[in-house]
Amino acid sequence: MCGIVGYIGEQPKALNVVLDGLSALEYRGYDSAGVAYLDNKKQLLLDKQVGRVQGLIDSLGGADLPPTTTAIGHTRWATHGIPTIPNAHPQSNTDKTIMVVHNGIIENYSELRDHLEKQGYKFVSETDTEVIPHLIDFYTRTTTSFVEAFEQALHQLRGAYGIVVATSAEPDTLYAARLSSPLVFGVAEDALIVASDPSAIMEHTKKVIYLNDYEFVCLHSDGSYDIKDFEHDTVVEREVETLEYDAAQASLGDYPHFMLKEIFEIPATLRSATLGRIKLESNTVKLGGLESVAEQLKYIDRIVIVACGTASYAGMYGEYLIEELAGIPVEVQQASEFKYRNEPFSRSTALIAVSQSGETADTIAALKKVESYGVLRLGVINAVGSTMTRMTDAGVYCHAGPEQAVASTKAFFAQATVLMLIGLYLSNGRSEIYKPLLEELEALPNKAKQVLDQADKIKALAEKYKDNRDFIYIGRGYAYPCALEGAIKLKEITYIHAEGYPAGEMKHGPLALIDENFPTFVIATDSKVLEKTYGSIQEIRARKGPVIAIATEGNTEIAKLADDVIYVPKSMEQTSPLLAEIVMQLFSYYVAVAKDLNVDRPRNLAKSVTVE
Ligand code: AGP
Repeated sequence: MCGIVGYIGEQPKALNVVLDGLSALEYRGYDSAGVAYLDNKKQLLLDKQVGRVQGLIDSLGGADLPPTTTAIGHTRWATHGIPTIPNAHPQSNTDKTIMVVHNGIIENYSELRDHLEKQGYKFVSETDTEVIPHLIDFYTRTTTSFVEAFEQALHQLRGAYGIVVATSAEPDTLYAARLSSPLVFGVAEDALIVASDPSAIMEHTKKVIYLNDYEFVCLHSDGSYDIKDFEHDTVVEREVETLEYDAAQASLGDYPHFMLKEIFEIPATLRSATLGRIKLESNTVKLGGLESVAEQLKYIDRIVIVACGTASYAGMYGEYLIEELAGIPVEVQQASEFKYRNEPFSRSTALIAVSQSGETADTIAALKKVESYGVLRLGVINAVGSTMTRMTDAGVYCHAGPEQAVASTKAFFAQATVLMLIGLYLSNGRSEIYKPLLEELEALPNKAKQVLDQADKIKALAEKYKDNRDFIYIGRGYAYPCALEGAIKLKEITYIHAEGYPAGEMKHGPLALIDENFPTFVIATDSKVLEKTYGSIQEIRARKGPVIAIATEGNTEIAKLADDVIYVPKSMEQTSPLLAEIVMQLFSYYVAVAKDLNVDRPRNLAKSVTVE
């Protein structure tokens, strides 16, 4: 979704840093980009383009960017108004003395716009953002300093925002504020760099400060800064945090796409999710992130997992496992639905938010909803330091490293593994599958690698089926959430219609769709319900539906039933569907490549969905 970068410092390299930062945020998805920067007469200049950041760089002079010490930039993912130059950010006041970049949505923009129009303000875009520079302008007329006008404007805005403001009235200061939309600034040797995501800052400094809701910061060119909590009217002192950063993880290396690279990182992801957390010798699971709430966890009798998309399917996989391992009832709710439900919620319920980015607006809203309930809020989150990690009481990091492709792949495996660890931890060794699962977790990375070794076979399968217009993915038990994940992957990067279903549901409706042009992916790995899955395959075959099965090595039956089979190594019933998932993710990837589609940045989607 939208990305923000701003630079203020002593070196005339502000545009280079801002444009590099915007390029680093490209993976989030956007449709236009723009910058505002100070010229040598201390006036603000604006450049905005529809399309790629590279188009903006070219328009600004390519390798010869104008030297400047102050700049703000933005990549926009359209919400209010189609992608056009007037709708791109920065948005400005009429005399172009106040420039604003904004992530999020100003919910009362129409009311504010009416009010400002009555005061004579002229609007040139369809965006909600444009009210901000006009509103600040409006308050500069009645206040004695820019910071006062800025703060007055913030008090009028409802909704969600990460905002950075440059003004020619104060060329040596940038203003930034946050409410429900992430904002962080980096403290470099000779500059301050503000961004919506630390990946835009990392190259320049690892020292960062995250803003919290209802805070703004004034960033000065001499490297000093002042943070204020404008809800409580207090000055904020905050320690600088150090980012952990592995440059290799953020770059493509020899891979043609981030998605492929991230799929090939699954074995390493499985390893790092368990590293230092399981001990086979003592049969123990140690989750440092839950130690502070260990006492409270003893009294939990219900768990609600909230998440969106892929994270919710990992949540559903966790639901099955935690229930089997720990005997605690678990339910998964789509965060976008959860926040509007009026369900009873007791204090002995724990809420677990699962998220790769830690910034998904719907999941954040779900965490906010229960704020006053006094329930335990836990996080299974990948992005260290993200908003959700600061909203939860405790949690277990996924440690999957940065995931850049819009389609989530390795993060799903990290989330599933961490939820498995939470199940093992809560079971306290009481479950029959406790020890076998601990052992299997150790073996899983190598088995995942064996699946990846079959990439060419899966690529051939993708070539064979790439022109089909519809697919259904089915599985039973642990395979069902994985079927859902297989289907979302295909639809989001290949634009092929795909649905995930519990295998047993086929006869209750979807079977009507099946004919010779409608293939079914069947997760038929070894389990106690395998015979039943065979039954579902027979029903599909009887309607001439092509069947692609993913089965366990050594299964001699399946080849007689399915048109195509990919085998995965023998694993437990609980973990085999994860190995099947690798096949489905690779299949989607190769279909998208065969169709020559933009694999890492599929149309209409964004990596981090920061609007509700
Ligand atoms: C997955 O491939 C998707 N792009 C999407 O469903 C994603 O998982 C969802 O938006 C949740 O994101 P999060 O994990 O960052 O919260």
